[in-house]
Amino acid sequence: MKKILIVGSTGQIGSELSVRLRSIYGSDNVVCGYYLPPFPNGFFEAGPAEEVNALNIEQIAQVVKKYKIDTIYNLAAILSATAEKNPKLGWDVGVGSLMNCLDVAKECKCAVFTPSSIGAFGPSTPKDKTPQDTVQRPNTVYGITKVLGELVSVYYAERYGVDTRSVRYPGIISNMTLPGGGTTDYAVEIFYKAVKGEKFTCPLKPGTFMDMMYMPDALDAAINIMEADSSGLIHRNSFNVTAMSFDPEMLAAAIRKYIPGLEVEYEIDPLKQAIADSWPNSLDDSCAREEWGWAPEYDLDKMTQDMIRALKQKL
Ligand code: SER
Repeated sequence: MKKILIVGSTGQIGSELSVRLRSIYGSDNVVCGYYLPPFPNGFFEAGPAEEVNALNIEQIAQVVKKYKIDTIYNLAAILSATAEKNPKLGWDVGVGSLMNCLDVAKECKCAVFTPSSIGAFGPSTPKDKTPQDTVQRPNTVYGITKVLGELVSVYYAERYGVDTRSVRYPGIISNMTLPGGGTTDYAVEIFYKAVKGEKFTCPLKPGTFMDMMYMPDALDAAINIMEADSSGLIHRNSFNVTAMSFDPEMLAAAIRKYIPGLEVEYEIDPLKQAIADSWPNSLDDSCAREEWGWAPEYDLDKMTQDMIRALKQKL
């Protein structure tokens, strides 16, 4: 039975991953490391929770030893647009949290999952059907920390035998906890506005294509890569994964099938637009499909229907 620590368990991914992991491995076997509120409803009652600042290696080590953790999901992150506004913070969290998790994992023999991102690609990367192995010269702090993360994870695997695995997440669309300061956040925000009957002001131009994924598939990706039989893995850090690629107009059209009155106006955020323009339009995720059976369940229409259903209930 796995004993898991989630570092960053109250964020967009962590808040949902903790619920899913507990349903698979049992509540007592999943420790939620928290640092920043807000805490999801019932957070402290749902299972073990410990204060874990990703930048404090002693705190991570103490919790790993106390609970005999064998797998760390490192989800502490500063997303792309926020990191561009505060590069020092983006650098410190992006690199510091991973280095701390890797060093504790090396000492305590844990496996480590850390997400990489479409942000690990840059303007000189092929934009369409971006291959698994290709040019990675990002021009954002976020992207640079992701490339470093991929490389250092390979290093710790080869040099110290730490079982490091990762996926390059696209924009993640979810309805429980809001993302904070990413370039792909518009694809979440538009649903909140649509369900409330309000006009959506889009920060990206029509024609800006990026890969996206619905949260249930993102959780499957993290869990399945960590469960995959290592003998089948040629790559590890990190796999392209995607579920759909769309631009703001395609997303608005998909929502209007169910909420015809949705109005969208465009007020371009130059920072987010520049970041989005430097990222792929669509990833080729065939290596993930072949090596560990990656197969997303939600396409644009299925995700749209479920987001609207869930947000109608929530709001
Ligand atoms: N969702 C992230 C961001 O926009 C990309 O991985 O920063």
